[in-house]
Amino acid sequence: MHDSVIDDQHRQLVALINDLYVAMAEGQGHTAVEPVLTRLTIYIRTHFWYEENKMERLDYPATMQHKEDHRKLLQQVELYVKGWSDHQSVSVLEIATFLKYWLSNHIGQTDRALAQYLTTQIGTAGSYTGSRRLRPGPGKSA
Ligand SMILES: [Fe+2]
Ligand SMILES: [Fe+2]
Repeated sequence: MHDSVIDDQHRQLVALINDLYVAMAEGQGHTAVEPVLTRLTIYIRTHFWYEENKMERLDYPATMQHKEDHRKLLQQVELYVKGWSDHQSVSVLEIATFLKYWLSNHIGQTDRALAQYLTTQIGTAGSYTGSRRLRPGPGKSA
Protein backbone atom coordinates (compact mmCIF):
# COMPACT_ATOMS: atom_id res chain seq x y z
CA MET A 1 0.00 0.00 0.00
CA HIS A 2 1.30 3.40 -0.89
CA ASP A 3 0.65 6.52 1.09
CA SER A 4 -1.04 8.73 -1.49
CA VAL A 5 0.06 11.92 0.24
CA ILE A 6 3.72 10.85 0.10
CA ASP A 7 3.35 9.76 -3.53
CA ASP A 8 1.79 13.08 -4.44
CA GLN A 9 4.49 15.06 -2.64
CA HIS A 10 7.16 13.05 -4.45
CA ARG A 11 5.51 13.85 -7.78
CA GLN A 12 5.55 17.56 -6.92
CA LEU A 13 9.24 17.43 -6.01
CA VAL A 14 10.11 15.60 -9.23
CA ALA A 15 8.03 18.10 -11.23
CA LEU A 16 9.85 21.01 -9.62
CA ILE A 17 13.24 19.60 -10.56
CA ASN A 18 11.97 18.89 -14.08
CA ASP A 19 10.97 22.57 -14.31
CA LEU A 20 14.59 23.44 -13.65
CA TYR A 21 15.79 21.12 -16.43
CA VAL A 22 13.25 22.58 -18.85
CA ALA A 23 14.36 26.09 -17.94
CA MET A 24 18.00 25.12 -18.52
CA ALA A 25 17.15 23.61 -21.90
CA GLU A 26 15.48 26.91 -22.82
CA GLY A 27 18.51 28.89 -21.70
CA GLN A 28 16.62 30.22 -18.66
CA GLY A 29 18.41 28.23 -15.96
CA HIS A 30 19.87 31.27 -14.25
CA THR A 31 16.48 32.94 -13.99
CA ALA A 32 14.73 29.79 -12.80
CA VAL A 33 17.18 28.51 -10.22
CA GLU A 34 16.37 30.94 -7.43
CA PRO A 35 12.56 30.55 -7.47
CA VAL A 36 12.97 26.78 -7.87
CA LEU A 37 15.30 26.56 -4.86
CA THR A 38 12.95 28.72 -2.80
CA ARG A 39 9.93 26.55 -3.62
CA LEU A 40 11.96 23.39 -3.23
CA THR A 41 13.03 24.33 0.28
CA ILE A 42 9.40 24.87 1.29
CA TYR A 43 8.17 21.67 -0.40
CA ILE A 44 10.99 19.61 1.07
CA ARG A 45 10.40 20.85 4.60
CA THR A 46 6.68 20.06 4.34
CA HIS A 47 7.35 16.65 2.85
CA PHE A 48 10.04 15.68 5.34
CA TRP A 49 7.84 16.80 8.20
CA TYR A 50 5.05 14.59 6.91
CA GLU A 51 7.25 11.52 6.49
CA GLU A 52 9.02 11.97 9.82
CA ASN A 53 5.77 12.46 11.65
CA LYS A 54 4.48 9.23 10.14
CA MET A 55 7.68 7.31 11.01
CA GLU A 56 7.56 8.45 14.61
CA ARG A 57 3.89 7.65 15.06
CA LEU A 58 4.43 4.13 13.67
CA ASP A 59 7.69 3.41 15.52
CA TYR A 60 9.51 2.91 12.26
CA PRO A 61 12.82 1.21 13.18
CA ALA A 62 14.98 3.21 10.72
CA THR A 63 13.57 6.60 11.73
CA MET A 64 16.92 8.00 12.90
CA GLN A 65 18.82 7.15 9.71
CA HIS A 66 15.98 8.36 7.53
CA LYS A 67 15.78 11.69 9.38
CA GLU A 68 19.54 12.07 9.11
CA ASP A 69 19.29 11.59 5.34
CA HIS A 70 16.64 14.33 5.22
CA ARG A 71 18.73 16.65 7.38
CA LYS A 72 21.75 16.28 5.11
CA LEU A 73 19.72 17.09 2.02
CA LEU A 74 18.28 20.22 3.61
CA GLN A 75 21.76 21.27 4.67
CA GLN A 76 23.03 20.83 1.11
CA VAL A 77 20.10 22.74 -0.38
CA GLU A 78 20.77 25.57 2.07
CA LEU A 79 24.41 25.64 0.95
CA TYR A 80 23.27 25.88 -2.65
CA VAL A 81 20.85 28.68 -1.83
CA LYS A 82 23.60 30.55 -0.02
CA GLY A 83 26.19 29.85 -2.72
CA TRP A 84 23.78 31.08 -5.34
CA SER A 85 22.56 34.22 -3.60
CA ASP A 86 26.00 35.27 -2.32
CA HIS A 87 28.11 34.98 -5.44
CA GLN A 88 26.50 32.47 -7.82
CA SER A 89 29.45 30.21 -7.17
CA VAL A 90 27.61 27.01 -8.05
CA SER A 91 26.41 26.10 -11.50
CA VAL A 92 22.73 25.50 -12.19
CA LEU A 93 23.67 22.17 -13.74
CA GLU A 94 25.44 21.08 -10.55
CA ILE A 95 22.40 21.96 -8.46
CA ALA A 96 19.97 20.26 -10.84
CA THR A 97 22.12 17.13 -11.14
CA PHE A 98 22.55 16.84 -7.39
CA LEU A 99 18.83 17.22 -6.75
CA LYS A 100 17.86 14.75 -9.45
CA TYR A 101 20.18 12.03 -8.15
CA TRP A 102 19.48 12.67 -4.51
CA LEU A 103 15.76 12.50 -5.07
CA SER A 104 15.75 9.37 -7.21
CA ASN A 105 18.09 7.57 -4.79
CA HIS A 106 16.17 8.63 -1.72
CA ILE A 107 12.76 7.84 -3.16
CA GLY A 108 14.00 4.60 -4.70
CA GLN A 109 15.69 3.26 -1.57
CA THR A 110 15.10 5.10 1.70
CA ASP A 111 11.48 6.02 1.05
CA ARG A 112 10.77 2.65 -0.53
CA ALA A 113 11.87 0.92 2.66
CA LEU A 114 9.48 3.16 4.58
CA ALA A 115 6.66 2.37 2.14
CA GLN A 116 7.28 -1.35 2.68
CA TYR A 117 7.14 -0.88 6.44
CA LEU A 118 3.88 1.05 6.13
CA THR A 119 2.48 -1.87 4.16
CA THR A 120 3.35 -4.35 6.92
CA GLN A 121 1.80 -2.05 9.51
CA ILE A 122 -1.42 -1.86 7.55
CA GLY A 123 -1.33 -5.62 7.00
CA THR A 124 -1.06 -6.52 10.69
CA ALA A 125 -2.72 -3.67 12.54
CA GLY A 126 -5.39 -2.94 10.00
CA SER A 127 -5.04 0.78 10.55
CA TYR A 128 -2.56 3.53 11.22
CA THR A 129 -3.74 4.12 14.75
CA GLY A 130 -1.97 1.25 16.50
CA SER A 131 1.31 2.17 18.11
CA ARG A 132 3.00 -0.88 19.56
CA ARG A 133 3.99 1.20 22.55
CA LEU A 134 0.48 2.33 23.26
CA ARG A 135 -0.10 2.29 26.99
CA PRO A 136 -3.45 2.38 28.71
CA GLY A 137 -4.28 6.05 29.04
CA PRO A 138 -6.55 7.76 31.52
CA GLY A 139 -9.47 7.18 29.17
CA LYS A 140 -9.19 3.41 29.56
CA SER A 141 -10.64 3.28 33.05
CA ALA A 142 -13.70 5.29 32.13
FE1 LIG B 1 12.25 10.42 2.99
FE1 LIG C 1 10.15 11.25 0.50
